[in-house]
Amino acid sequence: MILVTGGTGTIGKLVVPQLRAAGREVRVLSRHAQAGGVAVDLMKGDGLDEALEGVDVVLHLAGGPKGDDIGTRNLVAAAERAGVGHLVHISVTAVDQLPLGYFKSKLGAEQAVRASSVPWTVLRVAQLHDFAWNTVRAMAKLPVLPMPGGIRFQPVAAEDVAQRLVELTLGAPQGLVPDLVGPQVYSLPELAHDYLRATGKHRVSLPIRVPGKAGKVYRAGGNLTLTGADHGTHTWPDFVAAQA
Ligand SMILES: NC(=O)c1ccc[n+]([C@@H]2O[C@H](COP(=O)([O-])OP(=O)(O)OC[C@H]3O[C@@H](n4cnc5c(N)ncnc54)[C@H](OP(=O)(O)O)[C@@H]3O)[C@@H](O)[C@H]2O)c1
Repeated sequence: MILVTGGTGTIGKLVVPQLRAAGREVRVLSRHAQAGGVAVDLMKGDGLDEALEGVDVVLHLAGGPKGDDIGTRNLVAAAERAGVGHLVHISVTAVDQLPLGYFKSKLGAEQAVRASSVPWTVLRVAQLHDFAWNTVRAMAKLPVLPMPGGIRFQPVAAEDVAQRLVELTLGAPQGLVPDLVGPQVYSLPELAHDYLRATGKHRVSLPIRVPGKAGKVYRAGGNLTLTGADHGTHTWPDFVAAQA
């Protein structure tokens, strides 16, 4: 039995049917359980021992803007008690570089997995196409588009991430595997331009500077994985065309 935490999310929804199609029994865990799933809030941990009964592999996708370190520590402790044989964890590229709240909690989550006695695999993934799209959409709600200079991304398709996670989940524990990033690097203005063109919107942009250490890391490309990464095959232009 494979337990997929966050199996109802953007990536989870793609992964779960593929695992089932591979002949594996899958249990989905989230706070708001859907039919056949189990309702557990990882931040609290109640019900985790029951959710892990009969589970040999955990694919841990559940996450949110904050608290992933706490939720993951609860999951890891329960997985150790249950004698799980393989814990697959999705992390984020540059998780140990960016001193921002989200990255700090994702780093705590990754560290909890890597310190676990459960054999593990960790895949660090770049920002999804969906995330890039939603970010520029949120920015474009303002009449003037704030445009932080020097920020670049390697957006990757949820489909490519799901496919890689399925391979890893069906395989043996591998430790930290190469990052998975999109096929190309885009600046934030390029992503915003594509969004505006696809949605027929017009905005004047206002250059701004991200302050502090995070700004320095972004401007130096420290959030990118330019060597040694695996690359998804689905492109940002195809994603944009599909949105339009
Ligand atoms: N999106 C990206 O660009 C990106 C990039 C790299 C890594 N990641 C990581 O990949 C993972 C999945 O991303 P996604 O975009 O598929 O996320 P998503 O669409 O926001 O889905 C999050 C999933 O986690 C569940 N969840 C959230 N908090 C929970 C909690 N406290 N207890 C139990 N379940 C909880 C949600 O269901 P309920 O709301 O019902 O609980 C949902 O199933 C996350 O860990 C994220 O940090 C994402």
